[in-house]
Amino acid sequence: MVENDGAAVGLRVADSLLEALLLPAARPLGLATGRTMEPVYAALLRRLADLETSRRRALLQGWSSFNLDDYVGLGPDHPASFQAAMRRHLGDPLGLPASALRVPDGDAADPEAEARRYGAAIAAAGGIGLQVLGLGENGHIGFNEPPCPADAPTRCVDLREATRRQNASAFGGDPDRVPRRAITVGLAEILAAEKVLLVVLGSAKATILRRVLEGPPQAQLPASWLLAHPDLTVIVDRAALGLSPSPPPAARRPPPGSS
Ligand code: GLP
Repeated sequence: MVENDGAAVGLRVADSLLEALLLPAARPLGLATGRTMEPVYAALLRRLADLETSRRRALLQGWSSFNLDDYVGLGPDHPASFQAAMRRHLGDPLGLPASALRVPDGDAADPEAEARRYGAAIAAAGGIGLQVLGLGENGHIGFNEPPCPADAPTRCVDLREATRRQNASAFGGDPDRVPRRAITVGLAEILAAEKVLLVVLGSAKATILRRVLEGPPQAQLPASWLLAHPDLTVIVDRAALGLSPSPPPAARRPPPGSS
C-alpha cells in the first residue's frame, strides 16, 4: 500500500490500530517507536479525540499493548528511552497507565531476567494481535539485528554499529552515546502475531526495503522473515519506493491554453 507522504501513511496505520482497538476481546497491540511512528501516534490521538466520549473511555480502559523494545540502561526518566517516547506520544495524552502501555524495562537490574519476564507476559496475554513495525536501515525489526533466525525469542541483544549510527540523533548526534545493548521482542513473537503492519517512510529506507521485499526470507535481513507471515501489510510513502511525492491535483494539469 503506497501513500503520498508520512502524514497519509500515519492516518492509514492509525485507522488500522483503531480498528484493532475496537475489536471485542482482541489480543494486545504490538507497538513500535522511532520517527516512523510519530505521524502514526499523532493521527491516532486525533482519531481517538473524534470518538464519542463513552466509546473513547471504554476503549482506553480496555487498552493493552506491548512495545517492541528499549535500550538497556535507560529508564523512563531518560528522554531517549522508548519508555519515555511512549509516554510522550500516547501514555500522557491518553492517560494510559504503564501497566496497559507496556514497554520492556531497560533499566532493570537484571536485563536478561527482564527480557524473559516480558516474553512470558506476552505469552500470558495470549500473544500479539496487530503488530506494527518500523524498519531499521540494516533490515532489523524491533532490535532483532542481523543475522537473526526466525525463531529468536524475546531477549537482550547487542546493537550493531549501523543501528547506533541510525539512532544517534536522539543522543545529540553522537553514536557513542547510544547504548550498546537493548531488550527486544523476538522474531518468534512478532511472527506469531495475528496481523503485521510494516511501516516504512523516507528515501533513506528505499534500498533496504527493496532488498527485504525481494526475498527470499533470510537471517541477514531479519525483516524478510515477515514475507512468510500469512497476514502481512506493507505501508510505505512514495519516497520509500524511491519516488518523489506526487504533486497536488491542481499542479498536475496545466491550465487550459497554457501550452
Ligand atoms: C529502531 C527501533 C525500531 C524502529 C526502527 C526504525 O532502531 N528499534 O523499533 O522501528 O529502528 O526507526 P525510525 O522509524 O526512527 O527510522
